[in-house]
Amino acid sequence: MFPPVKELLARSQLFADLAEHEMDALARMAEAKELARDQAIFAVNENPDGLYVVAAGRVKVCLSSVEGKELILATLGPGQFFGEMALLDDEPRSASVIAQVPTTVYRIRRDDFHRLIETHPSIARKLLRELSLRLRRANAQMESLATLDVVGRMARYFIDIAKQHGQILGNGWVAVRRPTHQDIASSIGTSRETVTRLMADLEQRGLVVNEGRMSYLREEVLREERE
Ligand code: CMP
Repeated sequence: MFPPVKELLARSQLFADLAEHEMDALARMAEAKELARDQAIFAVNENPDGLYVVAAGRVKVCLSSVEGKELILATLGPGQFFGEMALLDDEPRSASVIAQVPTTVYRIRRDDFHRLIETHPSIARKLLRELSLRLRRANAQMESLATLDVVGRMARYFIDIAKQHGQILGNGWVAVRRPTHQDIASSIGTSRETVTRLMADLEQRGLVVNEGRMSYLREEVLREERE
């Protein structure tokens, strides 16, 4: 069963430390929005209406060229937030955000968000921490695009999604819901055809096992990458 809004917000990155009565107030402010797969929550350059928290599902943060070529900057899952940048710098949306699977998000309006960060330094601190982490990831993605070949970028991509969204199964394997080949291609700057070819190669070498919509990686790969 889908947990109530208060429980979902209490599990989120930003609001976990709020007191009970503050959570009640926040739950009353939050508006739910259901999205179908591939539905946009907002588009780049739109004027911002609020901060969003993912309750269930997964979204991609992306930019598109005029020829329609897409670059995926990040994917965000349950408990993660987006839409804070335009509220903080008073500029239009810096990227588009699109549901990758059927998704539920909660929106907190701009004024409520500003009041929350002014009255709760712990929320402001967590926000800054997450912005730093995202900047680190963006730097790593830039480094990867500039310095690694496509095989290296694909390997790094799988390790990153396993670290961020993977479920450690306890039997030496990590499970991740596999994005489409097109979304992988848009994250690592290559074509869908190249991803399909590289995926077959990774499977043949036993580095990734694919079953249905899931991919499985050996847990030790995550540790090796950190060393
Ligand atoms: P905003 O600019 O309001 O709308 C787009 C949102 O995407 C942005 O706020 C952030 O929440 C998110 N976003 C933009 N760039 C990145 C990135 N590199 N990594 C993760 N999230 C991002």
